Amino acid sequence: MVTTTSAKLRDRYVDLLMGCLTRELFLDEEAHDVDLNAWPGDVDGLRTTLRDNGWRLTRRGGDAAKRDDGNDWPPTAETMVGRQRLADVRQCVDSVLAEGVPGDFIETGVWRGGVTILMRGMLEAWADADRRVWVADSFQGLPAPDQEAFPQDVGHDMSDVPALAVSADQVRANFDRYGLLDDQVQFLEGWFRDTLPTAPIEQLAILRLDGDMYESTMDALDALYPKLSVGGYVIVDDYGAWEPCRQACTDYRERHGITDEIVPIDWTGVHWRRSA
Ligand SMILES: C[S@@+](CC[C@H](N)C(=O)[O-])C[C@H]1O[C@@H](n2cnc3c(N)ncnc32)[C@H](O)[C@@H]1O
Repeated sequence: MVTTTSAKLRDRYVDLLMGCLTRELFLDEEAHDVDLNAWPGDVDGLRTTLRDNGWRLTRRGGDAAKRDDGNDWPPTAETMVGRQRLADVRQCVDSVLAEGVPGDFIETGVWRGGVTILMRGMLEAWADADRRVWVADSFQGLPAPDQEAFPQDVGHDMSDVPALAVSADQVRANFDRYGLLDDQVQFLEGWFRDTLPTAPIEQLAILRLDGDMYESTMDALDALYPKLSVGGYVIVDDYGAWEPCRQACTDYRERHGITDEIVPIDWTGVHWRRSA
């Protein structure tokens, strides 16, 4: 039985976890990117220097509004999705746990792992030792667009962005930092097209898609949506921000006759709840 006190403690733990994962609790010690459009000198030369060296120009202090919106790439935080989309993960997890919707949780496209760390932390807070959290990523960034198979991705090549390539060892270390690295956390390392169709996942209650591209979104939906329980959630991080991602959702939903309401989370994220 969950007493009022333990329910309160559970909420406070999850609040604290979210504040750490976004670094909102330590914004004064964070940094944010300098707006190069406002740079007074030779901005082209500066951009070239930064790109050639893989450098970023940052100022001390985080930008609270951007962190709330998940609208920056934080220098140290374990997630870039921001508070509103993290709160949506929390609400979806609370919902499936409270209602007993069966299945594991997965994020496809984890970067530094923050969303999956929150998922694992919430299982801990709910004393759920049965469900697993699947952590799926190439751990080397986005693939180059496959022009023939997925023309929708042409013009959206992010494969050479070093900041998006975070190793599996680094993500494990991030879980470990929070004391949450154990057998309930399962890594799926490699391109989604190779790992997801054969992943030993039986059933899912949360399917969170954050692979940006048409290919990455469609590969995840094709392999994993059939495993999503009725009452489970599909969360799509890039629905508003990336047209190819939105198109993949539209195509998949049309092909499978899915009409469940698409609920906006913030300026880009959405979720829908599987009804049938
Ligand atoms: C925007 S980041 C994810 C952000 C993360 N969810 C967070 O909480 O900050 C996109 C991630 O998707 C991964 N990714 C994209 N497409 C992929 C694919 N087809 N196969 C494997 N990984 C992919 C990249 O490596 C990257 O880590």
